[in-house]
Amino acid sequence: MIFDRKKFYVTTPLYYPSAKPHVGTLYTTVIADVMNRVYKLGGCETFFLTGTDEHGQKIAQLANAAGLSPKEFVNQMAADFKAVWDVYGIKYNRFIRTTDEDHTRAVQDWIKQLQQQGDIYKGLYTGWYCPSDEAFIAEKEVSPDKPVECTLCGRQTIEVSEECYFFRLAAYQERLLELYRENPNLITPHERFNEVISFVEAGLKDLCISRTTVSWGIPFPGDEKHIIYVWADALNNYITGIGYGNLERVEEFKKWWPADLQIMAKEIIRFHAVYWPAFLMATGLEMPRQLLVHGWIKFGDQKMSKSLGNVVSPLDLAQKYGPESIRYYLIRHLAVTQDSPFSIEDLERRLNADLAHDLGNLLNRMTALATKHGITMVQAPAQLGSAELALRDKLWSVLNDFLIDMEECYVHRAYAHVWKFIGHVNAYFHAQEPWIVAKQDPERFMQIMSAVCNSLYAIGVLVWPVMPQKMEEMLASLGVTLEFGPNLIEKLSVDPWLRAFTLKPIPPLFNQYETMTEEKKSETQPVQTEQQYLTFDEFKKVELCVGTIEECHEVPNSQKLYRLMVNFGPKGTRQILSGVKHDFKPEDLIGKQGVFVCNLAPRTMMGLESQGMMLFVEGNEGKLAMVTVGQQVPNGNPLR
Ligand code: MSP
Repeated sequence: MIFDRKKFYVTTPLYYPSAKPHVGTLYTTVIADVMNRVYKLGGCETFFLTGTDEHGQKIAQLANAAGLSPKEFVNQMAADFKAVWDVYGIKYNRFIRTTDEDHTRAVQDWIKQLQQQGDIYKGLYTGWYCPSDEAFIAEKEVSPDKPVECTLCGRQTIEVSEECYFFRLAAYQERLLELYRENPNLITPHERFNEVISFVEAGLKDLCISRTTVSWGIPFPGDEKHIIYVWADALNNYITGIGYGNLERVEEFKKWWPADLQIMAKEIIRFHAVYWPAFLMATGLEMPRQLLVHGWIKFGDQKMSKSLGNVVSPLDLAQKYGPESIRYYLIRHLAVTQDSPFSIEDLERRLNADLAHDLGNLLNRMTALATKHGITMVQAPAQLGSAELALRDKLWSVLNDFLIDMEECYVHRAYAHVWKFIGHVNAYFHAQEPWIVAKQDPERFMQIMSAVCNSLYAIGVLVWPVMPQKMEEMLASLGVTLEFGPNLIEKLSVDPWLRAFTLKPIPPLFNQYETMTEEKKSETQPVQTEQQYLTFDEFKKVELCVGTIEECHEVPNSQKLYRLMVNFGPKGTRQILSGVKHDFKPEDLIGKQGVFVCNLAPRTMMGLESQGMMLFVEGNEGKLAMVTVGQQVPNGNPLR
């Protein structure tokens, strides 16, 4: 059973601090936080490890470009990661950095141990290397003349030939295949297992685990012109983070290892399902129990990634929608097993429907109705009626499904079951017509209120891992709190619904967002049966002026926007945001005279104020063309 193990150790990959966290890295981290909290509810002692992978040439280059030492640079970036995780209520036990002293020392000792036992030897490696991903992509003999494209990021690789230390990976091929055969549930989703098995079956070569071309990293013990390859350094965090290699932390290490769940996205499965188990075999340690390999969050057709520059900022999202609503959306609406697009329109629609409408309204309608009829104390009824028993049965069956999916880490499916139950509670509430019963049969009314309160209590417990603060607020408005210790989830499945509640109405828990879906647009737009005219006075109110675009900048994290600085002569220079990045390059716009609406109320987009609007016209195949003037005119001149 899911909570039998009594302890739960979960990890995320260590993120490269080459850029700030984005929605993709947030996704993995939120899944880990949610799983950690689910096991906490299940009565387990838990440990959650996350952090940053701070070594490598790319980091050194970025630091150099920023005028900082590598350590100063990673210090700043690690602080940025921690700040975002804080906003999102990520409760890790340790934030490990590969520059941490205990990690560095333990990795060097690990290398020494493997060297002594003959798992590491010195040789010569020639291959195609991707500096961006810090990975050799192919051996030189695979493609002797032409550099191959990086299979991880698509960039061109470079040829590198160097003396290096090899880890005897090939020697572990059979043991790895045996591990896969004996642990068919090691990788979720199962389909991803096949890729791993085929990769290993195709034949493993020894792995080069040191570099002489890199300066920023952990020195190779005994041969300091070599630096330990970042993956050999970083993967070990999963053991050093809980005390491996530290004599004072032997008990702690024994307590937590093996990891119960290691989470990552699919592009780094090879490192985690092949190299990492082989390292562990060489070290004489147990294998992790489960690897969750989730899909990518995409923007359009592409993976959202800092190197592709199409990332959505978690801080902007948290500010607009609240961090817990974002946690909910990521967990419930992105399928862990697949790639999923990230769309604001979908996000707003789901928040409105699932949170504001289905859950928030249920709580508010119930508390408002009860208090309207003078009830703040909801007592347990003498016995449950048939409708209440049926509702409780539904909860019990949902709990069963929830736990089955949780065990597999199918978090989106587990929470779909919970929302199905919320649907049942809403249906029950309507069917019982408590607003009528309240006047006729106070005892029955109390029975209904009690069933809704008990249902909301169960929902509060189950949803707490995703939205801890909101659920604590909700439970507080029912006069109950979560008492950790025993398995709270299991308790729900034998709960007789005899709890008493003290209602305290609270403002709506969730906001409603104005969404403009295509469907809604057509619903809200009046059908024009006859031509609608504008009076001349109305038209005169629009101030159209000519201005010259002097600067054109990209807007960080925006797919569409440019920030233009436009000279309006005597009217000054204004900042105008324009969503035309798909149609123009900055050099197409800079120096051109265009037509602008100058008296539009200022509007803030992506944190920047737009002080007007530039006019464009749609041309062939929807491509935009600039609206401009036939000959040069003084900037700021009005159109008439
Ligand atoms: N530093 C290595 C990992 C070393 S672990 C010992 C690395 N870092 S990374 O910054 O590139 O992070 C990769 C991980 O971030 C992915 O495996 C995934 O967990 C998360 N994601 C990054 N972009 C993502 C998406 N667009 N979608 C989903 N997850 C994303 O690889």
